[in-house]
Amino acid sequence: MGLIEIGPESYLGLIQIVLTAIHSGSAICEFSFTQQNKLYTYSLASPSETFPHGVLSEDGYYKVSSNGTVVWFQLCDGMIFNHDPPRCFDCLECGGQSRCGMGCSALMSNNILGGYSVCTTIGRSQNITTNLIDKERPGMGVVIEMWHQGSTLNCSLSVSVLCDSKNFHGPKSVEKVGLCNFATQITHPAGCANVLATKDSGLGWFGTLLVILLCLFGGYLIAGAVYRFFYLGIRGIDIIPNLEFWASLPHRVRSSFMSLVRRFRGPSQNYRSSYSPVDF
Ligand SMILES: *[C@@H]1O[C@H](CO)[C@@H](O)[C@H](O)[C@H]1NC(C)=O
Ligand SMILES: *[C@@H]1O[C@H](CO)[C@@H](O)[C@H](O)[C@H]1NC(C)=O
Repeated sequence: MGLIEIGPESYLGLIQIVLTAIHSGSAICEFSFTQQNKLYTYSLASPSETFPHGVLSEDGYYKVSSNGTVVWFQLCDGMIFNHDPPRCFDCLECGGQSRCGMGCSALMSNNILGGYSVCTTIGRSQNITTNLIDKERPGMGVVIEMWHQGSTLNCSLSVSVLCDSKNFHGPKSVEKVGLCNFATQITHPAGCANVLATKDSGLGWFGTLLVILLCLFGGYLIAGAVYRFFYLGIRGIDIIPNLEFWASLPHRVRSSFMSLVRRFRGPSQNYRSSYSPVDF
């Protein structure tokens, strides 16, 4: 039986291994998992017809502000500013004063008393993880989390990418969820999974029955052949047990099939004209 244990679930396992191998090569914003016989794959940074940059902002960055706090970020990559770069002090960890914003993937600025704003790096492109928003509901979307270990604080930004197969909405507001931890959300088709339905429990009862029957038949043929070869000294094609019966089987099946057809069609039909007999 050992040789015939390849069911659909083995192929699925193989596909998953291949996918995992691909993903560990370009891990950012890609992952897959199986749940209830479905294979979910997310590939947020991959281009689609309507979104050639995937979930990445075409401008090179997203911008959102609440209560005087401004947050710039890019998803799955570092930020690029071709216009309107952040103007805040202390941009050291994110590109410095001349390239402010270009050295990290998320930056926050706060208005300090006195009228000027200070930059704080809250995410780097080396520190990005992607997860499901809700493990029970994989269709809801994914959350992209980035963080930066600063000199005094561990800062982070988590961006929920809610699945909507048709519409895109940028971030509307940003929430402060910890000392230096922020959260916002966007709606994007890239947050939707590709779902592959997979067969449950492999073969099902009918397939299992078929495999068992084939195994029994194969065992019978092999045992019969071994017995005839070694004990009866038979050589050649005749070592197959009951060869005559197996050779006549196609013919028997055919004639019983034809007698069935005859019974249904009635004797007047000329069934032979459309049937070319096969010789075995
Ligand atoms: C900083 O925060 C991120 C995300 O919250 C976490 O994954 C990481 O381990 C933290 N780093 C340290 C050094 O605490
Ligand atoms: C802005 O204010 C709201 C309501 O008080 C709060 O929930 C939110 O976290 C604040 N956002 C920031 C970035 O401070």
